[in-house]
Amino acid sequence: MTIGIDQMGLYTPNFYIDLRELAQARGDDPDKYTIGIGQDQQAVAPSSQDVVTMGAAAARELTIDPERLGLIVVGTETGIDASKAAALTIQRLLGLNPWVRALEIKEACYGGTAGLMMARDYVAAHPERQALVIATDIARYGLATGGEVTQGAGAVAMLVTSNPRLLALADDSVHYAADIMDFWRPVYQDTALARGKYSTEQYLAFFERVWTQYQAQTGLTVADFAALCFHLPYTKMGLKALRLALPAADEAQQATLLARFDRSIQYSRRIGNIYTGSLYLGLLSLLELDDTLAAGARIGLFSYGSGAVGEFFSGTLVAGYATHLHRIDHAHLLDARAALSIPTYEQLFADKVPYGPADYTTNPAWFSGPFVLTGVVGQERQYQAN
Ligand code: CAA
Repeated sequence: MTIGIDQMGLYTPNFYIDLRELAQARGDDPDKYTIGIGQDQQAVAPSSQDVVTMGAAAARELTIDPERLGLIVVGTETGIDASKAAALTIQRLLGLNPWVRALEIKEACYGGTAGLMMARDYVAAHPERQALVIATDIARYGLATGGEVTQGAGAVAMLVTSNPRLLALADDSVHYAADIMDFWRPVYQDTALARGKYSTEQYLAFFERVWTQYQAQTGLTVADFAALCFHLPYTKMGLKALRLALPAADEAQQATLLARFDRSIQYSRRIGNIYTGSLYLGLLSLLELDDTLAAGARIGLFSYGSGAVGEFFSGTLVAGYATHLHRIDHAHLLDARAALSIPTYEQLFADKVPYGPADYTTNPAWFSGPFVLTGVVGQERQYQAN
């Protein structure tokens, strides 16, 4: 029996900004954003979209067996409640089976991987069961900050089952954790604090550490991998990590890994950082845009969550995987988005659900997507299907 990812869903808000326009507005060279950082566009979430509405929209793409679903895990680092799990609201919005464990996991961008590994272990113990893993986030650093170019919004949902139809996960994870302050978000604010350069150094140090240990532990080398996917806070970050692994590969394989890496970053170039979902957005981009991968191909995945945890693991592609993807729907999701001017983006950025007890109404002019947050009444968030 194999265990792994049977289906994947994606959602990102219906609005974006062009990063060349943002660069001009900030007095930066646009090439810094598109080449130096490696991002072209950035998803913008109006206040009527949050981790619940986006997570529910992504999971809506999956066909879930109500009799078999036993676990719902939401990984997020931009959760909307310090206590209650977003998984419960998503469960209600989607009308999912109530006979489940439903919870939320937090460890920065690592939460999606933590959820995936919990789901894998759960299905290993209960092979008839299915587990729903949702990685959903809105990356906010603030207007005109160093991190602004690395914002984004979106969610990836994954159904984990036995005998999966997309990616069979190997039981080969190598993980490493250490208490560092590279990026964090105190509970009283909705923008992240980051020691930008330090965080990039730590990302690479964690990758080198777990990749070296992974090879020692498994006996596998870069030659065993058809593709490598990375957590993508911005796409250049993943490229820097890939370049650490490349020298051990021969010339032909270096070219293949680089070409496949390029396909894995296309969705991120247009959406931006979705924190917990970024690695899986990269995987989805690879699977949907690459037509050179064969069944049985091994894909390596590097997950990094600031604070920090790094994990490297792999999976092998299942025969026929391409027929179980939603490639055309996702092309439409991205192509149908509306471009915002920078002043409009700045207005939307400022119009946020307040951190306080006052009631708040979201602006119906920006209602879009299958689910919306209509506001907060008596300190309770109000959701509706759109
Ligand atoms: N043309 C082409 N390239 C240019 C350029 C130009 N005109 N001008 C600058 N560049 C290049 C620079 O050479 C640099 O490239 P290298 O990194 O390859 O040297 C790149 O553009 C970025 O330039 P800077 O380093 O000067 O950029 P910056 O100081 O403005 O900050 C950043 C970049 C640190 C990533 C910042 O955006 C930031 O703090 N982001 C948030 C933190 C983050 O994403 N950290 C990633 C690791 S942590 C993590 O992974 C968890 C997570 O999701 C947050």
